[in-house]
Amino acid sequence: MKLYIFLSFLIVAGCSQQTSRTNTVGILADSAMVVSAHPLASHVGATILRKGGNAVDAAIATQFALAVVYPSAGNIGGGGFMVLRQKDGTATTLDYREKAPAAASAIMYLDSAGEVLEDLSARGHLASGVPGTVAGLAEAHVKYGSLPWKDLVQPAIDIALKGFVLTEREAKSLNNLQEDLKEFNSIEPTFLIKEWKGGDSIFYTDLGHTLERIRDNGAAGFYEGKTADDLVAEMQRGNGLITHQDLKTYKATWREPLRFKYKEYNVISMGPPSSGGIALAQLLKSVEPYPIAKWGHNSAPTVHLMTEAERRAYADRSVYLGDPDFFDVPAEELLSPMYIAERMKNFNPERATPSHEIKEGSIADHESKQTTHLSVVDSKGNAVAVTTTLNDSYGSRVIVAGSGFFLNDEMDDFSVKPGVPNMYGAIGGEANKIEPGKRMLSSMTPTILEKNGKLFMVVGTPGGTTIITSVFQTILNVIEHKMTMQEAVAAKRIHSQWLPDSIFAETGALLADDSVSLSRLGHAIHLRTDGIGRVDAILVQPNGKLEGGADPRGDDTAEGF
Ligand code: GLY
Repeated sequence: MKLYIFLSFLIVAGCSQQTSRTNTVGILADSAMVVSAHPLASHVGATILRKGGNAVDAAIATQFALAVVYPSAGNIGGGGFMVLRQKDGTATTLDYREKAPAAASAIMYLDSAGEVLEDLSARGHLASGVPGTVAGLAEAHVKYGSLPWKDLVQPAIDIALKGFVLTEREAKSLNNLQEDLKEFNSIEPTFLIKEWKGGDSIFYTDLGHTLERIRDNGAAGFYEGKTADDLVAEMQRGNGLITHQDLKTYKATWREPLRFKYKEYNVISMGPPSSGGIALAQLLKSVEPYPIAKWGHNSAPTVHLMTEAERRAYADRSVYLGDPDFFDVPAEELLSPMYIAERMKNFNPERATPSHEIKEGSIADHESKQTTHLSVVDSKGNAVAVTTTLNDSYGSRVIVAGSGFFLNDEMDDFSVKPGVPNMYGAIGGEANKIEPGKRMLSSMTPTILEKNGKLFMVVGTPGGTTIITSVFQTILNVIEHKMTMQEAVAAKRIHSQWLPDSIFAETGALLADDSVSLSRLGHAIHLRTDGIGRVDAILVQPNGKLEGGADPRGDDTAEGF
């Protein structure tokens, strides 16, 4: 069961229809808004904003609610990144990415012959990194929260203990999980094992009590006491590595945002250990000189250019990006205009460059599915973009018995062996090798844009390596293709990433003629039937109103006032 997401793609001879423009404006709000993957979570966040909470308060409450109502990606057993832009324009980012346990090693997923042991980094107890979410939310609250912590956790507790009604999509998702729940849990989570239907009520009692301990004790309610004991006991039953010491020493880290300009827009995004900000900057700067507004959305020349930029950026990602606390990431060089111009110098508008001809760029003096996003703006103009993840849907599939939450399978985001692709087909080497206490490389790209020094857009998405290209396209859809926020989010997406050497296209993303033209240029095109990304975004309109973009690929919802 190798988990290549790309194997679910079908080759297409030609795509028939382009359905990008929907002529839809998203939900509008006068001053404050939350957009997230679930209506109940967006409602929790909007209620906090109505009570006078700020964007950080709302983001915290929304994340705790997502851990209950959207447990495939919303989490307390995973990690994430927060990008915050305050109303005065100052910005910061918070890194609460998971870390490799102290007992982890570069050979932990290899057999005695040095071959990768199938799925060990992606399923079961050994797949989990030390969770960072609760430490991150507590740290964000200490520094920027305005309402009491307990008020931000309580709505999630209420939902977990009083129960809530499953959407059709969530019921289907839980039904698809049944075999894995039985296979990967040391103690079967019987409360989840049944055939679910949309409209059923569901209760997360153990998780509700865990959230009560977090409400009463802050981060210690997770990293110490009963929750920590349950997590470590779970690890011991399943031969996992996380210890009390790993939990006790976990710290979230404030980091400088990754900033760059695209035309007249200032972009504020996440730097390493995410590859998202650097790759997004490389992509936007690579396409900036070209008239893509004139070429048109998803036209052959536009898609060809984007694909050529993407194969170069993802080749760099595989070599130069990793946890900056362990690896000297050459961010300045990768982002220098000269370097980016040099990388695009052999771009040929008449021909696709086969990926085997592309290597990482040379840097002078250098040795060397499931996630969820939420966007928040409060009535004062503070903005928060958060992307948080268990990695794959429901992470490792392991629920901590007695505490009722899923653990991540984030260890698969490390390069488990140089040159061997992970579940997203991403390849890595030295920069992203497993080391004790190191953060695995991410693609999460929570991003905020400014125009004329004012807040313009808050954007992000799940989707593994497709995160970066989905954010890239959403920004171009608004700035170049003049779409509304809702149209930009709903528009059909494409993706490419150097290796595999293909363009992946959602059904209907390419007109038949464009598809034929791209094939003639030498691109292999594969249809992706399961959708690319679930972008949730907010756009500030010229009149100051907020427009929500809630991705129709999921139950995503905008709520504001
Ligand atoms: N686990 C997905 C990411 O961090 O990129």
